[in-house]
Amino acid sequence: MLQERIPDLSKCVEPDRVRREVYTDPEIFELEMQRIHEQVWIYCGHDSQVPRPGDYYTVQIGRQPMLMVRGADGRISVLYNRCPHRGNMMCGDRHGNAGDFFRCSYHAWTFQHDGTLRSIPMMESGYAGTRYGRDNPDCSMKRAARVESYRGFVFASLAKDGPALAEFLGASRVAFDDMCDRAPAGEVEIVPNCFRVIQHSNWKIFLENQLDALHPSVVHQSTGRAAHEVEKQIEKRTGKAPLSYHMLSAFATVTIDKWDNFQTLNYPYGHCILTGYMGLRPKDPDTLAYEKVMHKAYGKQRTEEILAVNIHHVLIYPGLSVQSPLQQLRAVRPLGVNRTLTEIWHFRLKGAPEPIYRRSLAYYNLVNSPATLINADDLENFWKCHQGLASDGGDWVSFGRHHGHDVEKDGAVETAPNCGTSEAPMRNQMKAWAQYMQA
Ligand code: FES
Ligand SMILES: [Fe+2]
Repeated sequence: MLQERIPDLSKCVEPDRVRREVYTDPEIFELEMQRIHEQVWIYCGHDSQVPRPGDYYTVQIGRQPMLMVRGADGRISVLYNRCPHRGNMMCGDRHGNAGDFFRCSYHAWTFQHDGTLRSIPMMESGYAGTRYGRDNPDCSMKRAARVESYRGFVFASLAKDGPALAEFLGASRVAFDDMCDRAPAGEVEIVPNCFRVIQHSNWKIFLENQLDALHPSVVHQSTGRAAHEVEKQIEKRTGKAPLSYHMLSAFATVTIDKWDNFQTLNYPYGHCILTGYMGLRPKDPDTLAYEKVMHKAYGKQRTEEILAVNIHHVLIYPGLSVQSPLQQLRAVRPLGVNRTLTEIWHFRLKGAPEPIYRRSLAYYNLVNSPATLINADDLENFWKCHQGLASDGGDWVSFGRHHGHDVEKDGAVETAPNCGTSEAPMRNQMKAWAQYMQA
């Protein structure tokens, strides 16, 4: 058993390295689901995914199939997707509208949108004198222990105790503030479909890659160079290449040494932020028209504050990666020790002109979608990492880059100046992992 092989899980994590079993051991994976994913706040979805009463969207939290549903009173509930009668899955579709109430497809027990039992066929004659009936909570659909949302982003925790959502998110709330503040109407709307990718690698490998500033100019260099070549040719012919070329060519023009100019900020609970951006504050007519709309909504000074927020990436441990300036969000759903689902979403800034949405869509398609070389090159490395870690070629994964140079400040760990490629974010994630796993 695991306890005999690895008597002390904390021995798996040292400040600058981690045992490979952390990524490959199925029993550690089960413990992670119990102690991390089924405890902490996990992102379910955005409230614009379920705009009308009865709308539901299914979502995986740890190993639990859940659904997020809007009630007639507008409130969102998160329920286990399971009928309390004989265990039938309540909603077999990924999303839909339940109508005025849920009705189980097996024996027609019905439930309110908040999961409360509504009726059982011939309840009086069938259950008189038994323990079953309206007063027994076991006859209602089970709810997530806690549900909270922040600026329209809905989270659930399957544990009744723990920090409130705002406390848990802490500084990482900036992901949602930055995204929503960039909308003249102060909120975003989900684009109602996402890409789903199953990666054949452990969930932590994806998360560790998100703030890995050393890899882009290596892994994505070929794509960046190809895009840059075409960009230059178009510029020569027409004077100006479309902005979308810049989204790709930046992988070549932001060279490996320049990534050190950025900075990472590392927070409690494993959250991390990479500041610095690829210089996306262009002066093209679309941006200027958008800035005008922003001035109207917020005034000049506040607009400048909003557009000056300089974030490349926010990682909300253990399941969310957000690129707020371009309204991109990726949710990580572990399926097994070597299988990970990512949902790749993007959002529309309410009140912003259409070209600004097209920019977000372009980034979504060119950088984050499964069709791009960017994503494909990342995926290949994730798979190769998992293959290597499953071998006997070594026991440790190294997170030693710039170790010893981190600066503790106001409860956060900052990388020292000119250490943007530090592996501090990976160290921070594993520190949180070890704390959760010891619980
Ligand atoms: S299993 Fe749902 S009503 Fe029987
Ligand atoms: Fe990458």
